[in-house]
Amino acid sequence: MAGGVLYLFFVPLIYTFLSILPTQSAPQSALVTQIPGFSGTLPSKHYAGYVTVDQSHGRNLFYYFVESEGKPAEDPVVLWLNGGPGCSSLDGFVYEHGPFNFEKAMTKGSLLQLQLNPYSWSKVSNIIYLDSPAGVGFSYSKNETDYETGDLKTASDSHTFLLKWFELYPEFLSNPFFIAGESYAGVYVPTLSSEVVKGIDAGVTPVLNFKGYLVGNGVTDDKFDGNALVPFAHGMGLISDDLYEEVNKACGGSYIYPVNDTCGSKLEEVDKNIEDLNIYDILEPCYHSTDSSKNRKVTKSGLPSSFRLLGETERPLAVRKRMFGRAWPLRAPVRDGIVPTWPELMDNESVPCINDEVATEWLNNESVRKAIHAETDFSWELCTSRIEFYHDSGSMIKYHMNLTAKGYRALIYSGDHDMCVPFTGSEAWTRSLGYKIVDEWRPWTSNGQVAGYTQGYENNLTFLTVKGSGHTVPEYKPREAFDLFSRFLAGKPQ
Ligand SMILES: *[C@@H]1O[C@H](CO)[C@@H](O)[C@H](O)[C@H]1NC(C)=O
Ligand SMILES: *[C@@H]1O[C@H](CO)[C@@H](O)[C@H](O)[C@H]1NC(C)=O
Ligand SMILES: *[C@@H]1O[C@H](CO)[C@@H](O)[C@H](O)[C@H]1NC(C)=O
Ligand SMILES: *[C@@H]1O[C@H](CO)[C@@H](O)[C@H](O)[C@H]1NC(C)=O
Ligand SMILES: *[C@@H]1O[C@H](CO)[C@@H](O)[C@H](O)[C@H]1NC(C)=O
Ligand SMILES: *[C@@H]1O[C@H](CO)[C@@H](O)[C@H](O)[C@H]1NC(C)=O
Repeated sequence: MAGGVLYLFFVPLIYTFLSILPTQSAPQSALVTQIPGFSGTLPSKHYAGYVTVDQSHGRNLFYYFVESEGKPAEDPVVLWLNGGPGCSSLDGFVYEHGPFNFEKAMTKGSLLQLQLNPYSWSKVSNIIYLDSPAGVGFSYSKNETDYETGDLKTASDSHTFLLKWFELYPEFLSNPFFIAGESYAGVYVPTLSSEVVKGIDAGVTPVLNFKGYLVGNGVTDDKFDGNALVPFAHGMGLISDDLYEEVNKACGGSYIYPVNDTCGSKLEEVDKNIEDLNIYDILEPCYHSTDSSKNRKVTKSGLPSSFRLLGETERPLAVRKRMFGRAWPLRAPVRDGIVPTWPELMDNESVPCINDEVATEWLNNESVRKAIHAETDFSWELCTSRIEFYHDSGSMIKYHMNLTAKGYRALIYSGDHDMCVPFTGSEAWTRSLGYKIVDEWRPWTSNGQVAGYTQGYENNLTFLTVKGSGHTVPEYKPREAFDLFSRFLAGKPQ
């Protein structure tokens, strides 16, 4: 009891002390005062602009910052990163958990209509969408040698970005800080978190109040990710029991580098069964062009047709129908070295997909670019091949080990119908850390329904699936994604 009294006594003193520190406020020049296409009142403040991470090269990273619609002074700050590598994080802003839903205008010729998104992550957090590395989205460098980059340089630049960003917005420095992302950000998130922690340990200022991270369908480790597809295809009923037994036997349970010809040909049989599915969500249709010249199989690269045109959807709101720039075809997980571009994979044929048009149209409209302070002389692309990107940080497992051992909270979640980075890989690598299970595999719920399954480990590591979701969980399951995000930030069980 006495402790309680002392505690109550000290808190006002601490606050008094903080409030006499000089306070700066967010840069007014970055304030977004109106959003073309949105006619209502913004529920919170929005800022957008650049942070220079290298003065001599003129390397500038673009961010869009949405203040919390809840309690901005207390709610966590979250940095959001999309993957690729080469994809803009405004992908997350437009298609996943941003403050707006984008809809086609009713009248032809006019700009898109923006409505408020009831599941925006800005309801419970202050969220920064960062275009990274330079060359992606609206980020750029005046020295184009910067467009050749990799995991380590990207993490280092993003860390510099964070330090400078918090200097611009010092009022958010004491809020809990989290890093989140999906897909290839399965590499960005742990490598950046590791830089942040090294900085904290070394006394770098400003001191970031880093608490933990989230990764959705994240690239992690070539072996775990590479071995995940065959068990996924079997578990989902996409290949027969017989084929599963045969491929398992021929490959000795290891599918990433075929051990011999029998294994190779069994893997080809697996591919034949699944190659026409939509790789990002096996339940979604895959649009096939009627133009046969655009529909021929790309045999040389082994690129499955599921990569060529992604499915039409019944969803009422905009859903991105293509997701490329850089990615990896079936059974070709991210490996050390250069991550190929689509033109390289496609033997220089452009990928004849359509329909990232909502984001492309909006973000390339002059009045929008002006409103959000975008200043590139190139147009915005969802995913770019401007950069040459090297995977130079190896497996992420050692990063996850270090971060969780130090007490940083981690949520590894997977849309369980994604075939690009299947949940089977994430489930296997989280289990492989050897942490004690503290919350045994069980369903978790959203809106009174089972929304997926979760298993909790010691060191605040949680693995979780989102039932029926594809690669980009907040896009396919906005409500469930909002719930898992809010609970994670609040430190509550799922
Ligand atoms: C850009 O948006 C404005 C509305 O803010 C609209 O009047 C204009 O036609 C758009 N421009 C193009 C090229 O679509
Ligand atoms: C661009 O950066 C490279 C590598 O740092 C440097 O050698 C070169 O001089 C720079 N180019 C310009 C125009 O500054
Ligand atoms: C291929 O490798 C597997 C696993 O090591 C082995 O069981 C199988 O006998 C090999 N097949 C041939 C034809 O070498
Ligand atoms: C693809 O394009 C690149 C650069 O545009 C060129 O160097 C390469 O030779 C081309 N490859 C093929 C197979 O045509
Ligand atoms: C993990 O921690 C160990 C011990 O502090 C350190 O030597 C190693 O470099 C760290 N690895 C990574 C990937 O952070
Ligand atoms: C887990 O997180 C809670 C709340 O953030 C913290 O108090 C606790 O020390 C963490 N546990 C471990 C084992 O790091």
